[in-house]
Parts: sequence; C-alpha cells; structure tokens
Amino acid sequence: MLSVREAGVNDLLQMQQTNLWCLPENYNLKYYFYHLLSWPQLLYVAEDHKGKAVGYVLAKMEEDDVPPHGHITSLSVLRTHRKCGLATKLMRSSHERMVETFDAAHVALHVRRSNRAAFHLYSQTLNYTIRDVEKGYYADGEDAYDMRKTFAEGKAGVKEALGADAAPVGASEAPTAPPSPKDVGLPPPPAAPAEAGGAAANPPEPPA
Ligand code: ACO
Repeated sequence: MLSVREAGVNDLLQMQQTNLWCLPENYNLKYYFYHLLSWPQLLYVAEDHKGKAVGYVLAKMEEDDVPPHGHITSLSVLRTHRKCGLATKLMRSSHERMVETFDAAHVALHVRRSNRAAFHLYSQTLNYTIRDVEKGYYADGEDAYDMRKTFAEGKAGVKEALGADAAPVGASEAPTAPPSPKDVGLPPPPAAPAEAGGAAANPPEPPA
C-alpha cells in the first residue's frame, strides 16, 4: 500500500536520495533542513508498505513577496512507483497547506521544457498555466517554463479540489484542460519525453 504523509526530519536523507536518483537539480542537506525548519507544513513524502520513501515534494513560501505565495522547489517519484497518482497527491497536499496555513494566493514552479511527464502533471492534472519561458534557466542551457497556479477560490476551493484525494492513491480523476502553450502564444514542449535527463543544472543557492 502507498500513502502520502507530512515529512519529518527522519525523512530528509531519503528525500535527498530520491532527488539524486530522479533529477539533475540536486541540493545539499542544509537546504532540505532549511525547508523543513521554515515551512514544515509543506513537505510531504510518499512511502510504500515498508515505510520506504518513494516520492517527495519539497516546497516553500515566498513570504516577503506581495501577495505571499508558494513555490515548489522539487518533486520526484521513483520510476518504480510512477503513474499511480503519487505526484498528484503530494502536490495537492502541499497546495492545501499553502492556502490553509499561509494564505497563499498562488503557487509557482519551474520545469524543463523537455520534461513532458511533469509538464502534463502541472498543466493538465493540476491546472498550472505558463507565465513565461526563462531562456537558459538550467545549467545545461535548457529553457524553463515558469508556471503558476492561482488559488482563486481560496481555502474553500482548495478543500473542494482535494475532495478527489479522498480516493485511494492510484484512482483516476478526470482532469480539466487548461490553456496549452499554443493558447498562450508559446511554443509547445518537444514531443520526445525526457523526464529528468540532461546535464547537472543550476539549482537555486540555499540561503546564507
Ligand atoms: N508522460 C505523460 N504523462 C505522464 C507521464 C509521462 N511519462 N507520467 C505521468 N503522466 C501524467 C499521468 O498520466 C497523470 O495524468 P492524468 O492526471 O491525466 O491521469 C499525471 O501525469 C500525474 O500522474 P502521477 O501519477 O500523479 O505522477 P507520477 O507519480 O508518475 O509523477 C513525476 C510524475 C513527478 C513528473 C515523475 O515522472 C518524476 O518523478 N519524474 C522525474 C522527476 C521530475 O521530472 N520531477 C519534476 C521536476 S520539476 C520540479 O521539481 C518543480
């Protein structure tokens, strides 16, 4: 059985390991601690029946910005456990707490243009839209989509959307179709799936 729960300090090493396996954007342990100590409500892990972490979401708040908003620093699910709805559940759990706890107006993230799986998750399943394309955002020169999801309905709306998560992980849910890149005047992502390939990237520096 798979479950999603809030992350604690004992999960950080496994989260970091999962990140190393899944993505070229990696962070030192201090950066994980910084997230957990600052916004413990926003970090979630997915675990299997043996309690092994198989996915995580690492998120934070941009509290000095007006309005305050959330930011997804990193999300990964092990290859062996993909397409079971875990990423969707991890993301929705963090979204809910951003609104409930921090009154976030929206949540933002960056994703590689070539990352078809993640782009599908964000745009089709979670209703993020593209705000911008950041040229050469990653260390290997790849562009990033700067994506955003607005919590227009506030706490009530997020709760309602999470009603679907009462279903077990792996249950399907009909997505609504947000605007495609073409609709907002941007080129589409390439057809070839490349979930997390590429050279080492340039993740944001941890705070001093
Ligand atoms: N191609 C197309 N669509 C896909 C793919 C794929 N390879 N994988 C998942 N999807 C779709 C699913 O079909 C589902 O769509 P639906 O809601 O219409 O049914 C949707 O994406 C969500 O599926 P989940 O099962 O919730 O996603 P999963 O648990 O498989 O995790 C993730 C998706 C996180 C992108 C996973 O593939 C992964 O870990 N990839 C490597 C790491 C990565 O790319 N992380 C994101 C980087 S960006 C960032 O961290 C801010």
